[in-house]
Amino acid sequence: MTHPKKKLIAGNWKMNGSLAANAALVAALRESVGTPSCDVAVCVPAPYLAQVQGLVDGSPLALGAQDVSAHAQGAYTGEQSAAMLKDFGVRYAIVGHSERRQYHGESDDTVAAKAAAALAAGITPIVCVGETLSEREAGHTQEVVRRQLAAVIHANGHCISEIVVAYEPVWAIGTGKTATPEQAQAVHAVLRTQLHHAAGDLAGRIRILYGGSMNAANAASLLAQADIDGGLIGGASLKAPDFLQIIAAAR
Ligand code: 13P
Repeated sequence: MTHPKKKLIAGNWKMNGSLAANAALVAALRESVGTPSCDVAVCVPAPYLAQVQGLVDGSPLALGAQDVSAHAQGAYTGEQSAAMLKDFGVRYAIVGHSERRQYHGESDDTVAAKAAAALAAGITPIVCVGETLSEREAGHTQEVVRRQLAAVIHANGHCISEIVVAYEPVWAIGTGKTATPEQAQAVHAVLRTQLHHAAGDLAGRIRILYGGSMNAANAASLLAQADIDGGLIGGASLKAPDFLQIIAAAR
């Protein structure tokens, strides 16, 4: 049995924005978002959490972070704990984005520990998985995403139904090359099966987002797929009209 669930549209601003730009973007979103039929979040750079917490207050926009420390506190220069994020009203934290795996050497186990830290603080981790172009071309897509997700399931088995998964093929991120709806659905179905083995019926309520050059033009066809429960949007989330169109496409 699956549970009814709202789709989730999450913007990942990555390392973009300023006090002025954030204020303008959130104001434009608030003005036109109305009462969306999906959940909506903006994942903002850490220095702007306090600002954006205020900007989204009383709106349908939830606040998200782009990373979280695996550690609770202490000598971890430059990191932010889940409890600190919680202090600023953070509801979601992206973990294991491919840019962090690639540029910061985050391993599957580190990503799993970050997901656990978020869950322990009552923050929903958005766990990113995805293959590189060479992995896809070598026929290893399923093996890679299953390995990445398995680490998170292993470390969080008892509360795995509380996570959000994001399938982000690395070759589609920021490249303008989107996975076709069929390519994405095929991987989402693999992930859903894996979640079913781990969580039984509860797997039906876990949202699996697609990310990678999702935009106003292609969102509806991706979101129409059976196992695509939302989107994690980079570039298009920085333009209010585009992000609003993606939100409108998520019913
Ligand atoms: P783009 O939408 O810019 O391709 O980025 C996707 C992404 O990495 C979201 O986390």
